[in-house]
Amino acid sequence: MNHLTSWTDLDDATWRACLDRALWHRQNRAWSQSAAAKALGLVFFNPSLRTRASMDLAAAHLGAHAVTLTPGNGTWGLETRDGVTMDGLAAEHVKEAFGVLSRYVDALGVRTFATLTDPEADAEDRAFRAVVDASTVPVVNLESARWHPCQELGDAATITDHLGGDVRGKKLVLHWAPHPKPLPRAVPNSALLMAARLGMEVIVARPDGFGLDADVLDLARDAARRSGGSVTESSDRVGALSGASVVYAKAWAGSGVYGSPDHEAQQRASHADTWRLSSDDLVQTDRAAFMHCLPVRRGVVVDGDVLDGDRAIHLLQAEYRLHAQKAILEWVWGLGAEG
Ligand code: CP
Repeated sequence: MNHLTSWTDLDDATWRACLDRALWHRQNRAWSQSAAAKALGLVFFNPSLRTRASMDLAAAHLGAHAVTLTPGNGTWGLETRDGVTMDGLAAEHVKEAFGVLSRYVDALGVRTFATLTDPEADAEDRAFRAVVDASTVPVVNLESARWHPCQELGDAATITDHLGGDVRGKKLVLHWAPHPKPLPRAVPNSALLMAARLGMEVIVARPDGFGLDADVLDLARDAARRSGGSVTESSDRVGALSGASVVYAKAWAGSGVYGSPDHEAQQRASHADTWRLSSDDLVQTDRAAFMHCLPVRRGVVVDGDVLDGDRAIHLLQAEYRLHAQKAILEWVWGLGAEG
């Protein structure tokens, strides 16, 4: 079964074929009936604008029908943990819910964010794995604790398109950004893997205490070895930005979030002014494109004039979610490329 849990479970050739297909979809913008009579279930345990709208439309563009459910909001609250006594808010277990949905649809898309309170559950992507285990049809990860593969493919296509093809050796700075709340790492993890797979020179610029997980950095370095790219970390944001072709901003929680959340919040707040991206920061780059997965808080993560400026490609990036997810659904359903 073609589950898309993480691109790390799949080979580079599959990723590249989906990337090429996403680029093709943007050029052709074709609606088809290639997935006519197929149904897609979309289950959002957490909020979404882009993923929800673009997955629904990706299905429609291919002639499939999507049904969207939000547990706890018009749909029964769902329990993902195994072996618990269900005397809380959740009225139904994912074993039953996804067992049933699997009998209605031909694939499922599921969003389950990190808890940011249970490090083992997040490291194992436990909630998402519970859904996959309960499903008997392919499952597409719409952002789990660890990964956001739809974002990852859309971002790869955005960079390839915007920078004009081969981006090997070009410099991408994955730039930590301030935020009033601790945020999960699925997007920075996926952005790191994406840029490494493209063969870019990737620098993760972040303050001390906000490094990404060692196993994710190892996966990215493996990908960079295969592609001819490189992956380094730096707390010197000014040095990192010099000569960059892409600046990808994202807020994420520090490593202290599980054990000492108050300290992590203090650390995060202490970097608010220094690490917020401004148009002055972009001057030292090689006319870098600015990226953000959205949603973004203006004046907190980045100044509004950067988002309004001609280097910002965050709307193209969001558009590519639609094209990338059409490619993903075609792969999931084994629909061979038309055109
Ligand atoms: N980037 C992204 O996944 O956006 P949403 O959270 O709005 O789906």
